[in-house]
Amino acid sequence: MLKSIAVMTSGGDSPGMNAAIRAVTRTALHQGVKVWGIRGGYHGMLDEDIFEMQSKDVSDIIQRGGTFLGTARCKRFATPEGRMLGYKNLVERGIQGLVVIGGDGSLRGASILSQETGIPIVGLPGTIDNDVWGSEYTIGCDTAANTIIDAINKLRDTASAHRRTIVLEVMGRNSGWLAMVSGISGGAEYILVPEEEYDIDEICEDMKRAYDAGKRYMMVVVAEGAGKGHEVGKAIAEKTGLDTRVSKLGHIQRGGSPTVIDRVNASRLGEHAALALISGLSDIVFGFDRGHVVSINLHDAVNNKKLLNPEFMRLARVLT
Ligand code: F6P
Repeated sequence: MLKSIAVMTSGGDSPGMNAAIRAVTRTALHQGVKVWGIRGGYHGMLDEDIFEMQSKDVSDIIQRGGTFLGTARCKRFATPEGRMLGYKNLVERGIQGLVVIGGDGSLRGASILSQETGIPIVGLPGTIDNDVWGSEYTIGCDTAANTIIDAINKLRDTASAHRRTIVLEVMGRNSGWLAMVSGISGGAEYILVPEEEYDIDEICEDMKRAYDAGKRYMMVVVAEGAGKGHEVGKAIAEKTGLDTRVSKLGHIQRGGSPTVIDRVNASRLGEHAALALISGLSDIVFGFDRGHVVSINLHDAVNNKKLLNPEFMRLARVLT
């Protein structure tokens, strides 16, 4: 049984991270285990921005987006010297294990730290991109998808009024999950994702035919990894002559109060992470498979690429 653990968030923030931190903290305290918060991701581990937490420290955060611990991407942690310094700072405080909440880059860092030092680590997938291998869900993806849908609904109103084509660029540097689910549920005509090649000439020909046949307006959702929204919009305007506008949602889709799904899932994952770590387990990530919490090998999670569900791609082709 571990007697003292720490929790941190790393990489891009995502709504629900606070719920996960809260669940880790309160579960540990419930077990009579000391729990520390590390501020600012791996930076805080290296700079000793580490504090012991009590239950009240995680009050009034479940409804907030972002992460109250702060987060960062840390270059120094990418070096063996940086990781050894981080490890030393944990050991000096008697911290015996660590919960890391973040995307694949952050979990990769955690995996290397545990390999090099042997410190027990449990990961939780926290990213709006929903691209951590082994889990059908990552903390924050539901809130982000709902934020995008809200934008699509609004864009449809104005697109319809003007008979315009609107291109909406959403996040997803390497993953089209957000674009795909929001495009499908927002009724977009075209969804461009990095996982699937597309031919802009073909799309434009198709658009012209649809417009000539009476289509009032069109929505194109582009994942940033599949192309820049303004370039796609420019190509469409030039090739079709259609009145086209481009919107980029940017970091708006990363913030906001988490949905019920993100709060509940993050709380469940946080409890599992704390209990597993305290019981001495290490090198696992908790995620979801068919609605159930499952543990995934940490090294597998960071060394495999999650594929976009082909059912989504098929559905998008049929419905759009
Ligand atoms: O959170 C993941 C992600 O949203 C990617 O899809 C995106 O490319 C990236 O973060 C941008 O994050 P930042 O602006 O913080 O570098």
